[in-house]
Amino acid sequence: MPGLRHQALHALLLRDPVDKARAARELFETVQAQPEALMRAAYEAVHPTPEVLTALPGRPERPRLASAKEVPTRSPFTLEGRAALLHAICHIEFNAINLALDAVWRFEGMPGDFYRDWLQVASEEALHFTLLNEHLHSLGARYGDFDAHDGLWSMCERTAHDILARMALVPRTLEARGLDATPPIQAKLTKAGDLVAVGILDIILRDEIGHVAIGNRWFHHLCAARGLDPVTVYPELVRRHEAPRLKPPYNLAARKQAGFSDAEMRFLLGEMG
Ligand SMILES: [Fe+2]
Repeated sequence: MPGLRHQALHALLLRDPVDKARAARELFETVQAQPEALMRAAYEAVHPTPEVLTALPGRPERPRLASAKEVPTRSPFTLEGRAALLHAICHIEFNAINLALDAVWRFEGMPGDFYRDWLQVASEEALHFTLLNEHLHSLGARYGDFDAHDGLWSMCERTAHDILARMALVPRTLEARGLDATPPIQAKLTKAGDLVAVGILDIILRDEIGHVAIGNRWFHHLCAARGLDPVTVYPELVRRHEAPRLKPPYNLAARKQAGFSDAEMRFLLGEMG
């Protein structure tokens, strides 16, 4: 039986989103049933061939990937516009499954809890994808029907060789933006009368606070191990990897719950750095 990190790579290569979501859910169930597998993950050698690396991440032919400028924003008050909005979030969840699986296979030598945490994230992202994709079906649409953009995966590639940068810039920068963006989207969907979508976003927001907290946990763990100050190293990583500089308004309550310190929030609010 291949080790956990090989299995995560295999799930990441799957092209069919429904198959990938199922594999991510099953992998976390395996870990819950056999937690001893986590202890072996740190020592597992995973060396994919160049062909495998260029096939990452496995994704379906559609949606077509386009630059953010080419993806129009539509009014959530028409059926098509609402489907397009929910499709954009569904695409983020599909990418989020990939990001979590990538953290599991790519980074060796971490404690067992690191692999457990990211397999839990992959499993919850798979649930989010599934809930949104099923809701899209009820609106007469499906994942792949609209163009989508690919900023999340490109940051994943830019931080492939540095786990500290990955933790700093993917979960606690790009994914943390979801904490800020979700309540205003829920307000629009409430006005549009789509309470099913609002309920799905409640689940997503709740889980996403936990995912950002996991990013914060491992960012701080790595800073401590390398003798770095998390507050000063973060802006350096943002500059080095050309990550977007975040702007307010922030969901301060959710960010506090996800473990951002007061000093980190002051930096985000532009009061220092
Ligand atoms: Fe998610």
